[in-house]
Formats: sequence, structure tokens, C-alpha cells
Amino acid sequence: MDLNLAPTWAVILACSGEPAQSMVHPAGPAAAEIARLWWVMLGAFTGVFMLVVVLMLVAIWRGTVAANTQAAARRTAPPWGRTGFIVAGGVVLPIVVLTPLFVYSLLASARFRMPADALTVRIVGHMWWWEVRYPKNGIVTANEIHIPAGRPVRLELASADVIHSFWVPRLHGKRDMIPGVENVFWLQADKPGIYRGQCGEYCGTQHANMAFEVIALSPEEFATWSDEQSRSRQPVESPELERGRQVFLTAGCKQCHAVAGTAAIGNAGPDLTNVGGRRMIGGALLPNTRGNLSGWIADPQALKPGVKMPRTYLAADDLQALVTYLESLK
Ligand code: CUA
Repeated sequence: MDLNLAPTWAVILACSGEPAQSMVHPAGPAAAEIARLWWVMLGAFTGVFMLVVVLMLVAIWRGTVAANTQAAARRTAPPWGRTGFIVAGGVVLPIVVLTPLFVYSLLASARFRMPADALTVRIVGHMWWWEVRYPKNGIVTANEIHIPAGRPVRLELASADVIHSFWVPRLHGKRDMIPGVENVFWLQADKPGIYRGQCGEYCGTQHANMAFEVIALSPEEFATWSDEQSRSRQPVESPELERGRQVFLTAGCKQCHAVAGTAAIGNAGPDLTNVGGRRMIGGALLPNTRGNLSGWIADPQALKPGVKMPRTYLAADDLQALVTYLESLK
């Protein structure tokens, strides 16, 4: 049996060191609010659980004693009578515990209102990757969302196929991406860093490998990144790159992928205009190395079974030239 261990690794990584994807290690204002609410709820319900356990032990003890002695049998009724006990434990206690928690959670969600001065990013969920667009300057990328740290980011969420759910646990809660519906959401990272996101709604075979990264940069770094991404690309020069470009344009890649400034304008798969600059490939499945990229092109089904991309049959040196070309796209 061919086991895919990527999700397991994600869980292990989330439990060790600086977690990339842990909602109890918040890195933004909304996530901090959610984490606080989570700890308050955990505390309250731990208290209730311990009370129930104590009452259960008392009941067992009294039952055992009652079974042994005739006199104790008369004591098995609770001190306030059976009705009083049910009213106190089943009505009064839940109201006393749940009302403050309910009010607290309402106050917490009232603080989730989108702040002003947000940068807009449009995210479209696909089976099983993320399209990322910056409407203000026309940048299109995939599976990597660059944002400025310390500034709210307004997200327009949509889906190209089935229901997905956008979730970056360290930055905010989940928000569904529903076909035909535009959902607006926001998040903010307090500090520069890389925050892993994961589709939070089962969406098919590769749901678990529908991941992405939010890369929060300092405002200056973000401005530089943004300028670099929106500049017009220079045509490639070296013979190897030229050959790679020809392979890209003739081997079928452009049917599904786009590269700005070329004849490739497909939109069924991720835009590859800056693929060489990405940290990961395949929906944050694999590090973007030459070997992984070659393996992905040659047989994506082996790495992510069910993915829409078919195998590409290429001679070894054509594949090498293609990878050289893709790595040059930054
Ligand atoms: Cu997309 Cu699960």
C-alpha cells in the first residue's frame, strides 16, 4: 500500500518547535482572540468535567456502601432531594456556565470586524491548489500568499469547483469558499514569517494536500516583492533557456498553465509566471527543488494521486531544459 505521509509530517511539525500551523500559537490579532477563547473554553469545560467525575465517584461510592448496609440505603438520596439535584445540576449549572461563555464568544467575534486600510487579495480554491491574485497591480501566483506584516489583508474568497475552506490557523479562523458565492474575509500577521494554511473542508482525494503558505514580509520587503512581480519580464537569452521555453510552449504545458509575456495563457492549472521563486510545489506538497520539479512534471500522479495534471512524456534533456526554464521564472 502506497502511504502518503505528508499530512502526518504536517501534524508532527505542528507539534514541535516553532509551529507552522497551530491555532494555539497565534500570530495575528484575530487568531489571538480565537486562541484566548479556546483556552477560556478549555478551562471552563475542564472544571465542569472534573466536577462530573467527582460526582460520579461519589455516586459509585455511595452505591457501594448502600449495597452493603441497610442503614446507608436511606442516605443514597442526594442532600437536596432528587428533584433539587436535577434542577441544580441540569438547569442552573449549565446556565451559570454557558451564559458567560456565550457572551464572551459574542464579544470575541464582534472584535473580528475587518479593519480599514486593508490590502485586497483574491483567492480562488481549485481541486487541489490555490489561485492567488492581487487586483491592484495584476500579480497572479499560486499556493503562496505574500502579505505585508502588521497590515490587515482583505481576502475575496471564491471556488472554481467544489466547496473548500480557507484556513491559516495561526492567523484567523476558517472561511468557506463556495462555488458561485463570493465570501469576504481578512487576516493579519503581526510579524514577518511563514504561516502554513490548509484547506479545512473535505474536497476530494487530495484534500489533505491542498495546502499553501502565507509569507508575511516587512512592509519594505513587500513593496520590493510587489514591484518585482509587476515588472515586465525580459525574454530568456541562453540556448538552454530558449530550448526550455520551446519545450514549455510545445509539450502541452500551455494548455493549462500561463506565463506572463508568453503565448501560454491556460488557466486550468497554477499560473507559472514566478514558479521558480516559489518555496514549494504541488499545493505546498514538496520543496521546490530541481529534482522535485522534474519528478512532478514526469509523473505528478505518483506524487499526488488524482491531481488533474497528467504525465508529460519528455526526453531527458528536454525535461532538464524545461526545468531550467521554469526555475528561471521568478
Ligand atoms: Cu479543498 Cu479540501
